[in-house]
Formats: sequence, structure tokens, C-alpha cells
Amino acid sequence: MREKIIAANWKMNHLAEDLKKFFTELLAGYKAREEVSVVIAPASPYLARAAEMADGAERVFIAAQNMYCEKSGAFTGEISPSMVKDCGCRYVILGHSERRHIFGETDELIARKVKIALNYRLNPILCIGELLEEREDGKTEEVVSSQLNAVLPQLSPEEMLSVVVAYEPVWAIGTGRTATVEQAEEVHHLVRGIIGGAFGDEVAQRVTIQYGGSVKPENIDQLMAAPDIDGALVGGASLAAESFLRLINFKQ
Ligand code: 13P
Repeated sequence: MREKIIAANWKMNHLAEDLKKFFTELLAGYKAREEVSVVIAPASPYLARAAEMADGAERVFIAAQNMYCEKSGAFTGEISPSMVKDCGCRYVILGHSERRHIFGETDELIARKVKIALNYRLNPILCIGELLEEREDGKTEEVVSSQLNAVLPQLSPEEMLSVVVAYEPVWAIGTGRTATVEQAEEVHHLVRGIIGGAFGDEVAQRVTIQYGGSVKPENIDQLMAAPDIDGALVGGASLAAESFLRLINFKQ
């Protein structure tokens, strides 16, 4: 069975107090499930604190929301892979659509970040997804393929197995407009096919592909029932422990 991953991307939300409340409530209600990992991505000043709170909780891991692709040096405002690692993170979200579209990150930069994350034994959560106008122009496949093809040729099969792919259609992020299960499954199947084309079917069958974009307690069960949807990357509905716990406890 493929590992399922339910991840919270808090984006630029939650202060220390909120983090403490969240973890206290989460851990009070959390029961580890076989084959289901939980990942929480707070803003970077809180990574170490979050890792301390999660310490000892089975299959609960911390992710950074971003990092830079150099070891160290004169990069004011950035954080390095070793800092992410040092703070106790296992994962790092890379290429989120907000990084691509607000901060102008290119496929090339994202590919460099994925590569260096792997060198530091961090698991990248590589985000891909099309804009609304791209979907309406029938370009979803083209966009998703080119985002993946910027990264995949640089990876070995072993490295590919350490990468999580998150399909997040940009038009579904923070809009309340979830892709239908059919729309999401269609792209997930395509993504697995592209990975299969690059590394063979055996590798492709083992890669976790998350869906992101207005995931909430009301739609998690249907999404998780689709054959190629292996988890969720969640913004809004991950901020409160109660709703996030419901997502972790999706029905199988
Ligand atoms: P929402 O769940 O708020 O739509 O955000 C999705 C997202 O961007 C997760 O990375």
C-alpha cells in the first residue's frame, strides 16, 4: 500500500500561542493510523517549536513551507536546507503556487530546491497545478507535465521515491471551489503516468500524490476514495485541530 499523507499548510498564519493550542488539541484527539502520516507546516520561525511539540507522536512530522537552494551564505531572509533539518523537519513544501505566482519562483529554481532538499535527506512535497485560464484553455495536461518534467529528469528512481507530489489546481486554492473527485483523479492518474514514463510503473505506484485546494471535512472522504489520491495538502481547514483531526480520520 502507498503511504497516505495528510498535511497542514498553515501558510502565514498562527503565532506561538495558536501553535501550542493546536498541538495540545491535536495530540489529545490523535490516534496514529497505519500507512497514514501527518505533516504540519508552520511558518519558519515556529518550526523548532512545532518539532518539539510533535516529538514522540507516532507518524507526525514537521515540514517547512519553503527554503532556499544554497547551503549557506549571503542570502538575506532565506533559510537553508540544513536549517530546516536542524529545526527537526522531515519534509519541505516546494513550488507552492503562492511561491510560483506571488514570488515568481520558476520551474528551474524549484528543481534546484528539490535536488538540494534530497541531498539533505529532506522529503520534498513538490506542488504543481494549473491556473483557471489554463484549465479553461484545455492546457492542464501541458502545464502539469511541464512542471513535472522540469524536475523529474534530474532525479534518480530512489530520489523520486522520497518525493511527494501535491496536485493543487490554483483555482481551487482558498476559493472554496474544490476540484470534483473526477477532475482531481484525472490529473492524479496523469501525474502517475508521467512518473511511470520516467521511472517505470513500479516506482510510480509507490509515489504519494496529494490533492490540495479547498479540502475540508465535507469532501475528504470522497477525495481519499479515489484510486490515485493518496492524501491532502490543506490550508484553511488545517488551522483548527478539530477540523484537521477529522481530515486525518478520513474514512477508507
Ligand atoms: P486551501 O485548503 O485553503 O484551499 O489551501 C490549499 C493549499 O494551498 C495548501 O497548500
